[in-house]
Parts: sequence; C-alpha cells; structure tokens
Amino acid sequence: MGYRFPKTFLWGGAIAANQVEGSHLTDGKGLSTSDIQPFGAFGELVEREEGDFNIKDVAIDFYNRYPEDIALFAEMGFKCLRMSIAWSRVFPNGDDDEPNEAGLAYYERIFSELEKYNITPLVTLSHYEMPLNLAKKYQGWGSRDTIGFFEKYARVVFERFGSKVKYWLTFNEINATLHEPFTGSGLPRECDEKMLFQAIHHQLVASAKAVKLCHELVPDGKIGNMMLGAILYPRTCNPDDILQTFTQNREWLMFGDIQVRGYYPSYMKRKFEDMGISLDITKEDLEALKETIDFVSFSYYMSGCASADPEMQEQAGDANMLKMIANPYLKASEWGWQIDPKGLRYLLNFLYDRYQLPLFVVENGLGAVDTVDENGQIQDDYRIQYLNDHLFQVGEALKDGVDVIGYTSWGPIDLVSATTAQMSKRYGYIYVDRDNDGNGSLVRTPKKSFYWYQSVISSQGEVLKDHTDK
Ligand code: BG6
Repeated sequence: MGYRFPKTFLWGGAIAANQVEGSHLTDGKGLSTSDIQPFGAFGELVEREEGDFNIKDVAIDFYNRYPEDIALFAEMGFKCLRMSIAWSRVFPNGDDDEPNEAGLAYYERIFSELEKYNITPLVTLSHYEMPLNLAKKYQGWGSRDTIGFFEKYARVVFERFGSKVKYWLTFNEINATLHEPFTGSGLPRECDEKMLFQAIHHQLVASAKAVKLCHELVPDGKIGNMMLGAILYPRTCNPDDILQTFTQNREWLMFGDIQVRGYYPSYMKRKFEDMGISLDITKEDLEALKETIDFVSFSYYMSGCASADPEMQEQAGDANMLKMIANPYLKASEWGWQIDPKGLRYLLNFLYDRYQLPLFVVENGLGAVDTVDENGQIQDDYRIQYLNDHLFQVGEALKDGVDVIGYTSWGPIDLVSATTAQMSKRYGYIYVDRDNDGNGSLVRTPKKSFYWYQSVISSQGEVLKDHTDK
C-alpha cells in the first residue's frame, strides 16, 4: 500500500479553452491568436479564410459537450478541474468597451455544472491565447496598453465568477514567451531581445495587477502563477556545466522569483547589462509588482540537461517549448520527451526550498498514440505507468514535507496538442474519436486509465505503486 495523500488534496485534470472548446466564432467570440496557428505553437501563422481547416475550430467540441465530459470527470472522482477562459469570448477584440455577455454566460454554465458535482474550478486567465486583434494592433504584450485591457478583462471575470471560482492562475507557462514569442505574448516572431523582455515585463506587471484585483474582489480566493517547470540537470559535473545549468534554470525561475518576491532578482540586472538593453520600467510598475501570488503552480512533463560545451548544445532536441540536451539515463516518449518521475520530486522540493509557498502541479502526463482494440477498448498501461510513477513521487515530496495542494494531470480527456495541433498525441483517461484530419464521431470512451485514476483518487493515493527501482 502506498502513501495516503491529504484529504484536502485537489485531484483532477487540466484543459485549455483553445484545445477543447471548438466553436471558435460562436456566440460572439472573436478570433484569438490560437485560431491562426493551425499547426500548433511553433507552426506557421495562417490568416483565416472561408472554408479553411483548423482542427481547433471544433477541437473536441467541449463547448457543446461539457455536461457529458464533466459528468465523466465526476465519475472519476475529480475534486478539481483546471480550465481556462478564452479572453476572446469575453472581449472579442480585447479592446472592446463592453464584455460579450454570451461568452460570460457560457462560462457561467460551466461553473454551475462543476458546482453540481462539487468540482473546484481552477481557472487560468490566459492559456496560450489572446484576442487576435491585440496581437495585430498592439503587438500583443509588446504594448503597455495591453496591461489595461487585461486588467479590465480580469476585473470582469473576477466580479462575475468570484462567488463560484476560488482558485485562479494568471498566465499559462509564462516563461514560454522566451521560446515562442507569438504563442506566449502575441509578439511578432522576429522580435528582438529588448522587445521580448519588455513584453515579458508588461505581462508580469499585468499578472501582479490581476493578483491585486483578485485579492480585492475575491477575498476568500487564491491566485497563483504558472510556469513551465523546465528543470535542467548539468550534463556533467564539470564546473562549467554546473554554472551553465544554474544560469539556464534561472531563465525560467526568474518569473517565479518576481511573482513570489515582488521584485526583479539582482541577477537580472547583470543579464540586462550583458545584453545591452534597458527596459521601460516605471515606478508604478515596481509598485504593482509588489502584489505577490498565494501559491506556485507549474507544468512538469520531463527534465533535460544543460551543458557549456557547444558541441553538446548542438545536440539539444525539442522538448515541449524548449530545447534540451538528452539525459543518457532516461527513456523518452514517442514525441521525444524524456520521462523522469524522480525529477518531479526533485522539482517540488527545489521550488519549496526556494519559495516556501504551497505548490500545485497543474500539468503532467504522457502524450501517446492509443489504439482501440477489437472490443472497442483502450488498454493504456503505458499511461498508467507514467502517471503512477509521477504521482508516487508527489507522495514522496509530501512525505519530504513539501506543501503540495493538488495535482491536475494534463488532458484528462483527449484534446488537441498545443505544440503540434495533433489529435493523435493523446493524454486522456477518456478517448475521443477524432483524428488529425478531423474525421470521427467525437464519441467519448473511458480508457483503462480512467478506472485506474478513479481508484487512485478514491484511495487517496494508496493504490500507487513504487516502481522506482524496476
Ligand atoms: C503545456 C501546455 O506546455 O504542455 C499545454 O500548457 C500543452 O497547453 C501541454 O497541451 C502538452 O503539450 P502538447 O504539445 O503535447 O499538447
């Protein structure tokens, strides 16, 4: 028998609006940046034309099928659903005077549905999308004006949903802008470093302002940040590799450092000097940044290595939004993401040592090709193994004394992949009949992992197995 997780632990799953909802122009929704990325986060940007194909236009039709999907989440015993609001449903152009009532009403229906099953919503304000108009007219987060538009949007949703939603996140994987400026910040891809860090600064200020609004408007609520937990190990114990790794880890920890402590860490001063850039940072910005988050959240799929050796650096392969050097001790998923359950325990301890705030694992999972057998079933033992081994390490971190408040695995129902826009890269406990070309009935079928996760939740983790040395 494994370790029993705390009773209050928020077990669940995580989805994002643009990867599940579809109905991309329904009920007054405006186009979002995701709507012109039919090939995923790094793919070509394609202007919309009548009749073109973008798998996300329908995605898995969560917009219409959410009652069925939420009922299935409830059947698994979910305590929490992480989801996002599409900003472009609420403010179709981002800079509109008035919010779009039909968009708000849609999310109201979802929150009521979750309430029926006592599922706590954890809501991301912006998950890899913003109204397309903001990207086109203002260069997204490149403009200071966007801070005001975001504040207005945050105020509207906190006022409207604050009584039902108590857990909030500001920006999904806020550090991803460093690697994909358009997806993360609506910036033109050919932006220079100054533009990039200026946009990041605007986003950090907007995040802090949303935190302040949440504290005022949802006083019994909690709001966190969200980082891509891209932990790197030194490829060797050569001091040059150690320092290189330390510096590269700071590239993403910088976001947490600001959001937790309320100011830029001193190492950023040197970084900006070395880059020869000086940002427009006002006194008011510095004041705004002082409003800090209540908990730290992050995604974790894999770890990677860093090296100071240029030859090694050239071997770095794609890993989610990043490039990482392979770790010879680890195996990889079909998409080349290296599987490292112990890395999750390490990261939880690492972040807790650094921040001393509650931690929430808001994404983790295995993207894999599933096959439906002759009985119409999906025996996804590989997924069960991945999730078991990671959750086992979450239990170890809890035993280490880390305050982990919840775990929402990525894509509890199959959805469209963010980096590749494929349906075939499946994470779900629930299979969705749809292929990469959009064929399929969209019918939902529980996989073997559905019943496994149900037993993990109902036993509060006791059924988790220790495979560490096998
Ligand atoms: C995270 C994102 O980077 O990874 C999700 O927050 C994304 O939106 C997830 O879906 C998995 O990535 P992918 O490319 O496999 O969908």
